[in-house]
Amino acid sequence: MQDLNKLWKLFNEKFTDTGLAKGAFSAPGRVNLIGEHTDYNEGFVLPIAIGKKIIMLGQLRNDQLVQVFDLGYKAEVKFSLDNLFPSKKDTWANYLMGVMDEIQKAGHPLQGANLIFTSDIPQKAGLSSSAALEVVTALTMAKLNSLKIKPIEMAHLCRRAENNFVGVACGIMDQYVSCLGQKNYALFIDCRTNKYELVLFKDHNYQIVICNSKVQRGLIDSEYNRRKEECKIAAEFFKHNLKREIRALRDISIDEYKRYQSQLPEVIARRARHVISENYRVQAGVRALRMGNYSTFGQLMIESHQSLKEDYEVSCAELDLLVDLALKQEGVLGARMTGAGFGGCTVNLIEKNYINCFMKSIKNEYRKITGILPDIYITLPAEGAKQIMKKLLEVL
Ligand code: GLA
Repeated sequence: MQDLNKLWKLFNEKFTDTGLAKGAFSAPGRVNLIGEHTDYNEGFVLPIAIGKKIIMLGQLRNDQLVQVFDLGYKAEVKFSLDNLFPSKKDTWANYLMGVMDEIQKAGHPLQGANLIFTSDIPQKAGLSSSAALEVVTALTMAKLNSLKIKPIEMAHLCRRAENNFVGVACGIMDQYVSCLGQKNYALFIDCRTNKYELVLFKDHNYQIVICNSKVQRGLIDSEYNRRKEECKIAAEFFKHNLKREIRALRDISIDEYKRYQSQLPEVIARRARHVISENYRVQAGVRALRMGNYSTFGQLMIESHQSLKEDYEVSCAELDLLVDLALKQEGVLGARMTGAGFGGCTVNLIEKNYINCFMKSIKNEYRKITGILPDIYITLPAEGAKQIMKKLLEVL
């Protein structure tokens, strides 16, 4: 527990007061309940913002300099808004610089600022700590500079920062839910129209539990890009054969897929089957949640994992193990890997009464087999990015 006063004290020790606008802001990480690798295929996703977040404190400066201090890593950078280019040394600062670059490119003038931030989102765990850093930076800079940027515009701007400045070709899901997440609701996002609907996720009997495998494969970016390419090839194939307007795999029905699957190269066919079936699962999942049918939702999560493992091949031994162990526990309705894959976390839907038992046995069993003690987090859908007004808050 750290309070805001303490953070301001650290801020004041670090920087001289400029007398200009200042404020504290936060942006959450996310966990995706279902709809994996569908966002860049213009499909559907259903993430929630989680209780873990990044908090940033900032004050405007009289010049074009930005000075940032990362409280967690005790790392510091200084750069000018007039001369933004990706750093090879301080790669973490690229998320901040990228966002500021995109804000300026969108035609909003920026003044420099002093910033500090602290995070309790585990890194490289598939819980979108990068998106949270982008979003909290965008919100801090927008508010301090009195800019009017709508949350959806902010999400797109942050995604562009990651695509163009950091060089990761991610979709829109993470930045979107970090900006627009709502307490007690999952966000059903249509990644083509960029519209969303709120889906109530508040049941006194069930809980979302995240298990962190604590492993991360190095190939994640190249494999991610390869999957995107494979999806593009599949979409092109359908466009050519179905002779109608097809922009992405989102436009293909399961029947159409079945009719043509044998003509596709085997790997491409499996990639396409994952995306097409996953889009159906998200829509079925939303219907199930709306009817309070949590066991159907859990079943869809299990099918999603199977598809990500067999067809999309983005899981790994440790994630499969966490899912297998979870499904052997009493009270578990569903379990699947979440995020890009190749390590990171699983998301589980569990009856509340069984959670303690679940945590104990997953920790024991997973450690027995892998030698790693997994982290387990219980979470409810949390609020998206916001300005922090209250005096006291829980940080770490
Ligand atoms: C990462 C990307 C998202 C999405 C997921 C997979 O988190 O940042 O845009 O593609 O992987 O669903």
